[in-house]
Amino acid sequence: MSFLERAAALRAQIAAHDHAYYVLDAPTIPDAEYDRLFRELQALEADHPELVTADSPTRRVAGRPLDGFAPVRHAVAMLSIRTETDTTAEGARAFDGRVRRELGLADADPPVVYAAELKFDGLALNLRYEQGVLVQAATRGDGETGEDVTQNVRTIRVIPLRLATSSPPPVLEVRGEVYLRRDDFEALNEAARSRGDKTFVNPRNAAAGSIRQLDPAIAAQRPLSFFAYGLGQTQGWAVPATHSGVLDALLALGLPVCHERTVGTVEDLIRFHADIAARRDSLPFDIDGVVYKVDSLSLQSRLGFVTREPRWAVAHKYPPQEMLTTVEAIEVQVGRTGKLTPVARLSPVFVGGVTVTNATLHNASEVQRKDVRVGDTVIVRRAGDVIPEVVGVLPDKRPPGAVPFAMPCTCPVCGSVAVQEQGEVDSRCSGGLVCPAQRKQALLHFAQRRAVDIDGLGDKIVEQLVDAGIVRTLPDLYRLGVLKLAELERMAERSAANLLESIERSKQTTLPRFLFGLGIRHVGEATAKDLARHFGNLDALMNASIDDLLAVEQVGPVVAESIHTFFAQPHQREVVEQLRACGLGWAEGQGAGGAAALPQSGKTFVLTGTLPTLSREQAQAMIESQGGKVSGSVSKKTSYVVVGADAGSKLDKARELGIATLDEAGLLALMHGKALVAQPLSIPPD
Ligand code: IVH
Repeated sequence: MSFLERAAALRAQIAAHDHAYYVLDAPTIPDAEYDRLFRELQALEADHPELVTADSPTRRVAGRPLDGFAPVRHAVAMLSIRTETDTTAEGARAFDGRVRRELGLADADPPVVYAAELKFDGLALNLRYEQGVLVQAATRGDGETGEDVTQNVRTIRVIPLRLATSSPPPVLEVRGEVYLRRDDFEALNEAARSRGDKTFVNPRNAAAGSIRQLDPAIAAQRPLSFFAYGLGQTQGWAVPATHSGVLDALLALGLPVCHERTVGTVEDLIRFHADIAARRDSLPFDIDGVVYKVDSLSLQSRLGFVTREPRWAVAHKYPPQEMLTTVEAIEVQVGRTGKLTPVARLSPVFVGGVTVTNATLHNASEVQRKDVRVGDTVIVRRAGDVIPEVVGVLPDKRPPGAVPFAMPCTCPVCGSVAVQEQGEVDSRCSGGLVCPAQRKQALLHFAQRRAVDIDGLGDKIVEQLVDAGIVRTLPDLYRLGVLKLAELERMAERSAANLLESIERSKQTTLPRFLFGLGIRHVGEATAKDLARHFGNLDALMNASIDDLLAVEQVGPVVAESIHTFFAQPHQREVVEQLRACGLGWAEGQGAGGAAALPQSGKTFVLTGTLPTLSREQAQAMIESQGGKVSGSVSKKTSYVVVGADAGSKLDKARELGIATLDEAGLLALMHGKALVAQPLSIPPD
């Protein structure tokens, strides 16, 4: 194979994989293999620059920044579309009525067939393919002349650089909308926010800004998408007879076409409008309505244009996702992890299908940059399931005397100091477990299976316990009684007893589980194990200096600071002391051993009779803390039967099945990792 053939083969393969990955969402090869093909093509082209073609996937990689965009005169003007402002079903009927009148149809004549599709909220583009190769991409501009954005458009992965056909037409211009998915937009803004950078107002602005970005390297980092919805100039292409046929043909050529579309009579348009309205929030991208087009292209040309709008198409809108309203107050909410979020209280406004009365302002630096003040007129956006946000202020409408917002230095809920960590934009309440706003989350975190594991302490119960003021801090959990629990709504006696049993069992835990359960910021399970291993016991950790903490492998300055701040607060130490006083405990000095290795995992124990010192619950907790299971009856699957005084039929059964038996001393030895030599049975005297 010649270099030329190899390069062509690589290009075809890469284009096919791009299509599978970006358009069909069904990758055909692993990323590493794709990268290998790509690098091979890059190397070939570097060695033989004469092999480079306009449609080479390597051209997607951004070129030099531009000074400006060259004007492009459109071969066929890019028109706009009439908007039907009546958002009810009547909007579609009015359009059908106009079309029928223009076509001179009587009531008795058959219905007109329409194509319905989405009205994407992005930026219109004209893609020009010559001999199947993308040679130019232009914005709409004033409809006559747009801007040459070819370099940037080449970086959009869903746009094929070459059409998927062996006999391409000399000229095919495809029109469509470049847009940004909502999740991509949120991620882009989230990243900007965490850097303290300016955010985009909405996906449309972000898409438009990216396409008109003079540095293609930046444009290339924006995850833009595209849907084709029509044609510009064509030469030598057998244009299908219908609009829906055109879209099918474009799809077959490898262009992305949205599958949310339908063909039918005015009744189908009405159904489509209602169906999409109901699903608008769950679409992955913003739309501002649906578009109806007369399906037959010959009827389209009979209908023609009025001024700059075709008579054969209409945009049937939905209620807007952005509206103006005024800020009545700015309050600060405390999130479940202590994050302080400024929230604008708004004059009620109907936006994105719901009445919005408050909207997030994200964080202090965002409020400052947008300079949102009480009394301001603001743009509120609510799209999809995303929480409403204030995206901008109308400075001209600011009332005199409006003052800039200042983030409080203390938590508005518990009064603890609010801290802003270095390099972070968010302020957090340092109150942790004593802050009621964080209490519920803290309790759930502490009770979760990977922490001290209180089976049965879920969302609902925690909610009730905290709201009723029964549980304020973690130690309160260990002071609960059946009576207290029975006060709770829908708490049956049996479940109350079960919960108390789980709480009792959770007292026997391990240091890593306990540490993780405290919910110290940046201390996950792995860090908790590292800390336990390093310090060996809780007191050493609680009294550790920043330097001591930095000596722990995997612990950097941010984590060290967080741990140090946590234990420097008297109320946190108090919580820890109270938990210990309540009987929470673990074998100290064993480091992570308890949690990292679960030596009894997979083993089943049966307890029978009364042990000399351990209660049944203590024995069970001990076994379970090491991964063992406690069962009520002896079977072939039982690993050990633990025998105390007055053991009954379970001991007989164990003997019958030849199952190993242990007394309390044997159990303790096993739990402390001592090798167990076939333990001679010692049954306490009756
Ligand atoms: S057709 C001659 N179809 O809406 C008709 N336009 O005012 C040309 N748009 O900026 C437009 N989705 O970018 C058409 N499915 C769709 C569309 C759509 C969005 C945009 C288009 C243009 C505006 C028309």
